[in-house]
Amino acid sequence: MQPEFPFIPYKIKSVEPIQLLPREERERVIDEAGLNVFKLRSDQVYIDLLTDSGTGAMSAAQWSRVMMGDESYAGSSSFFRLEKVIQDIMDLPYVIPVHQGRAAEQVLDYVLINPEKNIVPGNTHFDTTKAHIEFRGGRTIDCTIEEGQNPTTAHPFKGDLDITLLKEAIDKSGRNKIAYVLITITCNSGGGQPVSMENIKAVSNYCRQEGLTLFFDAARFAENAYFIQQRENGYRDMSVKEIVREMFGYVDGCTMSAKKDGLVPIGGFLAFRDETLYESTKPLNILFEGYTTYGGMSGMDMENMAQGLTEVIEESYLAYRVGQTAYLGHKLDDAGVPVVKPFGGHAVFIDGRRFYPNVPEDQFPAQMVTVETYKFGGIRPVEIGSCLAGRNPDTGENIRPALDLSRLAIPRRVYTKEHFDYVADRITEAHQATKDRATGLTFNIESKGIRHFTSTFKYL
Ligand code: F0G
Repeated sequence: MQPEFPFIPYKIKSVEPIQLLPREERERVIDEAGLNVFKLRSDQVYIDLLTDSGTGAMSAAQWSRVMMGDESYAGSSSFFRLEKVIQDIMDLPYVIPVHQGRAAEQVLDYVLINPEKNIVPGNTHFDTTKAHIEFRGGRTIDCTIEEGQNPTTAHPFKGDLDITLLKEAIDKSGRNKIAYVLITITCNSGGGQPVSMENIKAVSNYCRQEGLTLFFDAARFAENAYFIQQRENGYRDMSVKEIVREMFGYVDGCTMSAKKDGLVPIGGFLAFRDETLYESTKPLNILFEGYTTYGGMSGMDMENMAQGLTEVIEESYLAYRVGQTAYLGHKLDDAGVPVVKPFGGHAVFIDGRRFYPNVPEDQFPAQMVTVETYKFGGIRPVEIGSCLAGRNPDTGENIRPALDLSRLAIPRRVYTKEHFDYVADRITEAHQATKDRATGLTFNIESKGIRHFTSTFKYL
C-alpha cells in the first residue's frame, strides 16, 4: 500500500537546479573521493541527504527579516529581537549568541568541565558534543534506554534515558565528579528519536534532588515537542508552543544549533536560567565567538534565526516535516530495506548490519550502504556508525557502536514527494542488487580525531 504523503503548508517561490551525473561518472568521482561522501563536491550530488543542518529553505518572511539586520557591533537591535523570541519560546531568561552548535558546546564545556568535575552522562551524545567534552578532559556516559540501541523494537520514545543507568553512572563516578547532565532532543545518534516529557521530568527531578545541572542539546527541540504531542498521553490538546515551554521548564539551560530547528544556514546560542552561570560564560564567549550581542553572527543571521524559531513551532509545518520523513521510511520499509523504527524526526536511518547481513561488522557495512546509495542514485547519505564512533580515547580500541547506520537526513522544506519516491526506488534497487555481498570496506587512510570527514576507504 502506498504510504500517505502529508499535507504541504507552502508552495515553491525560488528553485535551485540540480543534475544527475551518469553512473560511470558517479563511480569515478566516488572512487576519487576515497569512498568518502564528504569528499564529493555538491555538484556531483543529485539529492543531498548528508545533513539536515543548515540546508533548509528559508521562507519569504525570513528573507525580508534579513534586510532588517542591524550590524552594530554592540547593542544590535537584532540581538534584542532574537533574545526576546528565545525567552518567549524557551522561557530561559539569559541568552548568549554563538555561530553554531559546537561553538555553544565549546563555551559551555570550557566553563563547566575541569579535572575535578569532568563526567557528562546523557542519552547518546552527538559526535561534536562528545568531542568537545573529551577535548576538555571530560568523559561522557551513555545512559540511553536499551530499546534505543535496538533498531527494530517498537517504542515511542527511544531517546529516553534509563534512570537506573543514570543513577548508577552518577554513583559510580561520584556525585561530585558530574559536570552536568545532558539530554539531547531529539537524539540524533540514536536515530532522531524523541525523549518523552515523563522522562525529561524524571531526569530533572533526580538532578534537582542531587543538585546537578541539567542541560538540553536542543538542536531539534521542536520536532521532539511534536512527537510528545502526538505520542504521549495527556499532550494531545496542548499546543507545541506550550509543550516546548514545559520541556524547558525542567532544565537549567541549553546549547542550540539553530542550523536545525532554527531554520537557518548558520547560527546558534546558549540559554540559561541562572544568572551566575550566564555571567561566567560571557567572557569565554567574547574570547571564542564575539561580543555578547552578536557572538559570531551577523545582524542578518540573528534576524533570520528569530523568524525561523517562530516558524519551526508552527504545527502545520511540523506535521508536514515529520510526515515527510515517515513517508520515506515507510516506502523503504515496504520494499524490504532494513530501517530503524519507529521513524525519527529529521532522518531515516538504514541499518547497515541488516542491509549486508554477510559483511563482517568491522568491515563498515553502513559506510558501504552510503557509497552504494551514491552509486545507484547520486544520493548522498552519511554513515553514523563504526567509522564515526572512532576509537576509545583511553584504550585506542575501535568502538563498536550499538547501531551501524547510514542516515538519510532530510533538509527542511527542500525536497518534494517526487524526490522521495526517487530516493526510495534507487535504494531499493541498490539493496536488491548488492545485499548478498560477503565483504565490505577497510580504511585506506584513517584520520585521527573525528575521522569520518577525511578518512578514505577501499573495497576488500
Ligand atoms: N548537537 C546535535 C544533536 C547535532 O546534531 C549537531 C550537529 C550538533 C550538536 C552540533 O551543531 O553543527 O551547529 O556545530 N549535527 C549535524 C548533523 C552536523 O549533521 O547531524 P553544529
